[in-house]
Amino acid sequence: MPDVKIIGATGYGGLGMVELLLRHPEFRIAAVAATQDVGKPLSAVWPYLEGYCDLPLHAPDAPDFLAVPADVVVCSTPDGVGMVNAGRELSAGRKFLDFSGDFRFNSEDLYAEYARRLGKDPQHKAPELLPRAVYGLAELHRDELGRADLVGNPGCFAVSCILGLAPAVGDGLVERAGIVCDCKSGISGAGKKPSPSHHYPERYDSMNAYRLSGHQHVMEVERELTNLAGAEIAVAFTPQVVPVCRGILSCLYGRLAPGIDQKRLLSAYREFYAASPFVAVKDAASPVATGDVRESNRCVVTVAADERTGTFRAISHIDNLLKGQAGSAVQNLNLMFGYPETLGLDRPAAHP
Ligand SMILES: NC(=O)c1ccc[n+]([C@@H]2O[C@H](COP(=O)([O-])OP(=O)(O)OC[C@H]3O[C@@H](n4cnc5c(N)ncnc54)[C@H](OP(=O)(O)O)[C@@H]3O)[C@@H](O)[C@H]2O)c1
Repeated sequence: MPDVKIIGATGYGGLGMVELLLRHPEFRIAAVAATQDVGKPLSAVWPYLEGYCDLPLHAPDAPDFLAVPADVVVCSTPDGVGMVNAGRELSAGRKFLDFSGDFRFNSEDLYAEYARRLGKDPQHKAPELLPRAVYGLAELHRDELGRADLVGNPGCFAVSCILGLAPAVGDGLVERAGIVCDCKSGISGAGKKPSPSHHYPERYDSMNAYRLSGHQHVMEVERELTNLAGAEIAVAFTPQVVPVCRGILSCLYGRLAPGIDQKRLLSAYREFYAASPFVAVKDAASPVATGDVRESNRCVVTVAADERTGTFRAISHIDNLLKGQAGSAVQNLNLMFGYPETLGLDRPAAHP
């Protein structure tokens, strides 16, 4: 039974890992860490876990935390933390999975561009590790994940856009130029830390677009789509925040390639995801909402060819905290340790 250590266990992604691993038949949580509340049980910080995860919180660099044996370390922390921890863990023979942008790119230049978009230090602290990092989107990198010891889990918007566009871009069903990603996220996408713009009165009845000049997730989306198309793909991406807690709805548009109709679109998507247990493809007649994927690892993609206007549309629905974060991470851990991809994750959405 592989032991997992979680850094950032008190945040939304860390809690998602704890919740999923408590129900997982194979992985065991060995130790948890965060910067605040060190020494307290995790369940004292988050009482809903009392009796389920009472492990004490360690400081991430404390000798007692480093000494706990483990097979894999999961870092659910802000950008810049995973890169200073990964080398030490890999040298100790542990696998490492990071939730931030630290290991989503294989080159220093791409990382630097990513960091600049966030106003962070563009210098990667462990550039020698970048070439061995695998991008943690199982639907596109299943085989590499099976061999990986270092994984960069994807951004939540990126998961929804890539899964929604991959079959169309890969099969040439949509024109390469002019793809638009119009994406709405729930507020939990910003993590647990309160801020003035995420204060309840500012948020509960208001929606806004942000980072129009270049959201950091665009880079992952364009890199993956370019690899699939075998030609440069650029997308216009409009991230928005809407007053729900969890969920991402990405409306993806483009020009239909000549001769492509609804029947062809639907069959291509169904074929592309035939071996991907967490992706469901629907036609436009089936109503879907983010509520249908809440607390599940599923991505539901509705495809609609508007033949009247020649418009391609795919609507991608995920839970940002599951398929967009901890769910994908557990899916990746399953692959990294040779378990069935669905182990511990095969359950429907929580309704309502
Ligand atoms: N939220 C989403 O929908 C989502 C989706 C996909 C990916 N992500 C990415 O996943 C990561 C975690 O996001 P989140 O939303 O879970 O954030 P969060 O709720 O703010 O949690 C962050 C966690 O990291 C810990 N932490 C902060 N600085 C640290 C440091 N220097 N060393 C060790 N631990 C530290 C925090 O502990 P303390 O409070 O004790 O400092 C907390 O436990 C981020 O990189 C984020 O971009 C988020």
